[in-house]
Amino acid sequence: MSNMVVFGSQWGDEGKGKVVDMLAEKADAIVRFQGGNNAGHTLVVDGEQCILHLIPSGILHPGKKCLIGNGVVLDPFVFCEELDKLAAKGVDVSAGRVMISKKTHIIMPYHRLMDSARESSRSDDGRIGTTGRGIGPCYEDKMHRCGIRAGDFADPDLLKEKIVIALEEKNVLFKHLYGAEPMDAQAVFDEVMPVAERLVPYLGDVSTVIQEADCVLFEGAQGTHLDIDHGTYPFVTSSNTVTANAASGSGCSPRELDRIIAIVKAYTTRVGSGPFPTELLDADGEYLQTNGHEFGATTGRKRRCGWLDLVVLKESARLNGPTELAITKLDVLSGMKEVKLCVAYEYNGETIAYPPQEQNGMAHVTPVFETLPGWDEDISGARGWDDLPENAVKYLRRIEEITGVKIGIVSVGPDRVQTF
Ligand code: GDP
Ligand code: IMO
Ligand code: MG
Repeated sequence: MSNMVVFGSQWGDEGKGKVVDMLAEKADAIVRFQGGNNAGHTLVVDGEQCILHLIPSGILHPGKKCLIGNGVVLDPFVFCEELDKLAAKGVDVSAGRVMISKKTHIIMPYHRLMDSARESSRSDDGRIGTTGRGIGPCYEDKMHRCGIRAGDFADPDLLKEKIVIALEEKNVLFKHLYGAEPMDAQAVFDEVMPVAERLVPYLGDVSTVIQEADCVLFEGAQGTHLDIDHGTYPFVTSSNTVTANAASGSGCSPRELDRIIAIVKAYTTRVGSGPFPTELLDADGEYLQTNGHEFGATTGRKRRCGWLDLVVLKESARLNGPTELAITKLDVLSGMKEVKLCVAYEYNGETIAYPPQEQNGMAHVTPVFETLPGWDEDISGARGWDDLPENAVKYLRRIEEITGVKIGIVSVGPDRVQTF
């Protein structure tokens, strides 16, 4: 059986959690390979909602292994909270079923403080609108080679030593640049030790589990246009969100990636700052926000809404190599008189088919739209192409034509079963 990768093709919140939950039935193991608890992945099973931030979205299928890869940044407090919440619902979250790579970097209390200190010190224009979870500062330490890794939790002396080193430089910044209280290494160590001890049984060799499984499902977080290299820099997250990172972020070879599924929301949303060419600041945008219940699953912020941007999708297709598209939230478009697709941009007097590559170029494009007729029918009960109104089918076929990728999955509601 072949492995699968699920990735977000826009700015996150495309419905990755729902699709991963659905596909997890076919997999032996589900692995997160980047990001951290900036992610909020929503699953709805039999009408009951479950939001996951760190634990892979396969956890509600009994027996499936749930793995945290080396490319993830893990907040141990959030991880323990998530374990407890799931256990209270009767979900098996035992060590062995859930595993963390020893190479996974740990989000420490000082990373969260640095994230909020940096954001508050930025001007309104420069603020990224991060989730405030310490994601960027943790990845900085990883690259700076002073990060704490999950495996260090098994060695308290090493952990203490690394905290002391990590704080040397940060305390200067806290005190003299950000006007924040410096952190005491012993106090940080004492705060972290109880969760560190709890995590030790979960440490394992994720690469070997992947190698031995017949079918692994790689669960992406965020979206391609939040990628640190390919997204709308600097308004991006701090990891590579593209599918190539599924291999390096989990510990296997790129040859292991077979079926690659692009999750595409039928319109576009974005949380936080940054350019968004097809954003709607009118009644249509309001309609999508309300009808789609577009509030962030992590921070509760209102999501900005706009028309589907096929320039964004084409870029995602060339960066990620999808074998199919999974269109989600098609039901949200019901009731709109007309629906628009952005098919190109005008930029510096030229028509372009891919996003400009200079910093903030995306803020200066004018979208070129194609207008299609909408549909009124409630499609949340559709379970096949034949159940869709003609105009909804036309909309989907046009997406396939322009992106050059076939649609393999259509989602028409939040519940696991509202899919074909
Ligand atoms: P993720 O971060 O990509 O996993 O997406 P989120 O969970 O943050 O946001 C997607 C939201 O849309 C969640 O509230 C889902 O329950 C919901 N959702 C997913 N698919 C559909 C769909 O086809 N129709 C509707 N109406 N809601 C959906
Ligand atoms: P899922 O996996 C949507 C956004 C933040 C901010 C930027 C940087 O649920 O799709 P960070 O805290 O990562 O440094 O913030 O990235 N962001 C997301 N937006 N969905 C997400 O995850 C996101 N994770 C981060 O809003 O603009
Ligand atoms: Mg989300």
